Amino acid sequence: MIKNICCIGAGYVGGPTMAVIAQKCPEVNVTVVDINEARIAAWNDEDVSKLPVYEPGLDAVVAEARGRNLFFSTNVDKAIDEADMIFISVNTPTKTYGVGKGMAADLKYIELCARQIARVSTTDKIVVEKSTLPVRTAQAIRDILDNTGNDVKYQILSNPEFLAEGTAIEDLHAPDRVLIGGDTNTEEGRAAMQALVEVYASWVPKEQILTTNVWSSELSKLTANAFLAQRVSSINSLSELCEVTEADVDEVAKAIGMDSRIGPKFLKSSVGFGGSCFQKDILNLVYIAKSYGLNEVADYWEQVIIMNDHQKGRFASKIIKTLYNTVNGKKIAFLGWAFKKDTNDTRESAAIYVADILLSEMAQLSVYDPKVPEAQISFDLNYLASRTKEENEAGVTVVTDPYKACEGAHAVAVLTEWDEFKDYDWQRIYDGMLKPAFVFDGRRLLDGEKLKAIGFEYKTIGK
Ligand code: NAD
Ligand code: UGA
Repeated sequence: MIKNICCIGAGYVGGPTMAVIAQKCPEVNVTVVDINEARIAAWNDEDVSKLPVYEPGLDAVVAEARGRNLFFSTNVDKAIDEADMIFISVNTPTKTYGVGKGMAADLKYIELCARQIARVSTTDKIVVEKSTLPVRTAQAIRDILDNTGNDVKYQILSNPEFLAEGTAIEDLHAPDRVLIGGDTNTEEGRAAMQALVEVYASWVPKEQILTTNVWSSELSKLTANAFLAQRVSSINSLSELCEVTEADVDEVAKAIGMDSRIGPKFLKSSVGFGGSCFQKDILNLVYIAKSYGLNEVADYWEQVIIMNDHQKGRFASKIIKTLYNTVNGKKIAFLGWAFKKDTNDTRESAAIYVADILLSEMAQLSVYDPKVPEAQISFDLNYLASRTKEENEAGVTVVTDPYKACEGAHAVAVLTEWDEFKDYDWQRIYDGMLKPAFVFDGRRLLDGEKLKAIGFEYKTIGK
């Protein structure tokens, strides 16, 4: 029976996941640790509206469990030492240097965690991979733990996380499945898996808790993301065909989605998928396939990324072309910057790439997002290093009032599907814009007929 859990990494996964485990298992002490002091301070903020991750429902879960059996701390060593079970939930970004640059997952943070666990632990531990990792990473973790440890015994499990941002709490409360991979060949391995099964069984029906060997579990996570992203790229590829054939991509999606073999979910055409994981995980899959010499497998999956890049670029090109082939000096309002609604996460958001192209064409952008602060928007653009910080500042204004963003603009571009955008006073927005007033709806969010009746030139994806 697990009594003390430590989770290394208090990010978008570690924070919400551990908050729900603590909520559902009041008898287990859960300590989430991170080296980022500001992040831990925000998790400990008395005002739960200031948590570092915005997720509907997360504030209530944290308020219920924090201080009771949920703790956030920067004392990593202490939490490791006291734990029976340690989740590793640190970031695994795409490598930006050396071999595998731009493709492979950077496992330096994982390795640092493994070495720290080995150095600190004085009692037996179950180490759980919560981060998304290349298949066979558990072997590397085992090598480090067994060779640098203090002769304590380790079991390594893979327990990938399938939550989606914006619905994290819903997903954690009622997951489609929980996947636990481990060493099925030994009694100790099976016992470790059972210990983690028992944690989840506090609220997840047992038939939805799947146990597999560790490699299947690691690979299933990359595969699930690849399949999901592939559906978005598939429908986005058809959106372009719809635009030249007078078919409507939403109608096509509905028609094919009613086939129970295809299913209706994840067929919403958009300006392109974003988020910290789809691109990273597919690139990683491509890299792994190549490293085994499986070039056809690699090429097949790489196409999902190629199509997504095309979709983002195509949306920007459409804006430029429609605005008479020049956006130089023109004000374009961006509604939305997050990679999807109901999150403050902007990693790999399509908005960043569309903005980058428009800024290269000397457009003046005015950005409004309900949850993303100015500092993050500046960071995202500066991180691309396409131009200087000063040039980005000169080209982009971030506002906290959507009507101000649209005032005097040639065009409005919808980049994120925030619900509130649907309820704006679009007549007021129209009245304040230059004419012709264009709307480019990158999310098929707005009522195009209503906007056209107001006088807008309404352009969207896949129609
Ligand atoms: P994140 O960047 O939000 O959080 C990771 C945290 O780990 C950071 O706060 C960082 O400071 C901390 N960290 C890094 N090294 C550390 C160390 N040595 N000691 C202590 N703390 C350390 O990342 P995330 O979005 O939570 O993703 C974490 C993992 O989960 C990734 O592998 C990702 O692929 C996977 N994942 C993410 C999602 C998602 O929706 N974001 C969903 C499923 C899986
Ligand atoms: C995704 C997966 O859905 C999760 O199961 C997984 O755990 C997670 O990645 C991860 O490993 O990080 P997330 O990226 O948070 O979750 O959000 P999604 O809902 O999958 O959306 C990803 C992107 O695809 C968003 O930009 C979204 O707008 C876009 N999308 C999604 C579409 O354009 N159309 C769709 O039909 C669905």
